[in-house]
Amino acid sequence: MAFERNAHHFDSYVMQRPEMGRIMGVPLDQKTCDTWNSIQSFQAHPADILVAAYPKAGTTWMQEIVDMICEDGDIMKCRRAPTYDRHPFLEVVAPEPVPSGLQLAEQMEPPRILKTHLPVQLLPPSFWKNNCKVIYVARNAKDCMVSYFHFQRMNKGLPDPGTWDNYFSTFMSGTVPWGSWFDHVIGWWKAKDSHQILYIFYEDMIKNPEHEIQKVMSFLKKDLSDNVLEKIHQHTSFQAMKENPMANYSTIPSFVMDHTISPFMRKGIVGDWKNYFSVAQDELFAKEYERKMKGTDLVFCTEQ
Ligand code: A3P
Repeated sequence: MAFERNAHHFDSYVMQRPEMGRIMGVPLDQKTCDTWNSIQSFQAHPADILVAAYPKAGTTWMQEIVDMICEDGDIMKCRRAPTYDRHPFLEVVAPEPVPSGLQLAEQMEPPRILKTHLPVQLLPPSFWKNNCKVIYVARNAKDCMVSYFHFQRMNKGLPDPGTWDNYFSTFMSGTVPWGSWFDHVIGWWKAKDSHQILYIFYEDMIKNPEHEIQKVMSFLKKDLSDNVLEKIHQHTSFQAMKENPMANYSTIPSFVMDHTISPFMRKGIVGDWKNYFSVAQDELFAKEYERKMKGTDLVFCTEQ
């Protein structure tokens, strides 16, 4: 809505791809790095709910599920605004006059549903201090990589991904925005042993959405009827979200997100990596994966 409202400001605006900086070694948009102190001192409320994920792991899908649960399955209430206005994206600093994630969050009354892609070590400490509930979504690295490649192509708010072959190396070296997929999923996996974190897998959501929605409901201590559960399931299906302008990012101007290059709601499946990985890339990936995941009991599924 903020984008729509202010679209006229951008009439002659040519969107530049962002400069990147680093915070504790993690690549982040330079504008985020410039406001890092205020992001770190963000005051979460104990009743706030945080949806956290590595980019392209199914963040938007989980946001819609959590919103539907919190609104007791009321679809009209969940159509009140686009995803990015309903759930402030903590560390995002958009070009003026679009409000930053922090500004949006501060205008909202708790309990809020907030979104972040930050790795666990960079989360503002007030979330831990206030024992906020966190729902973390994890998706297998190969599908994340393919989805992120297409997203960086269509979203001028992120660096140009270059060719697929280049992107494969960039992703593997952890120099994409928000850093290494490996560090991210492992970091949050470890944190769940000492914090209120519900760790959910994208692949499980695909396989049995109702079961995973039920888990989120129990975690949020919401007891909703089977009818409402079914309504949430329908409203958050890939097809329903693809057609929902309040969930599919079509309200962002096309000079920022160009859905003709690749739609935000692209395929929504497990295993699309097979259409992109060469045999050599798959072998390289397997070696790196073994090395980086050594010592963790975190297991991903890469096939439907
Ligand atoms: P693909 O590009 O593989 O299609 P995020 O919200 O973290 O940016 O993740 C976006 C990815 O989640 C995209 O993956 C998108 O299609 C997928 N997605 C979004 N809503 C979905 C849904 N309801 N069911 C399945 N996948 C969904």
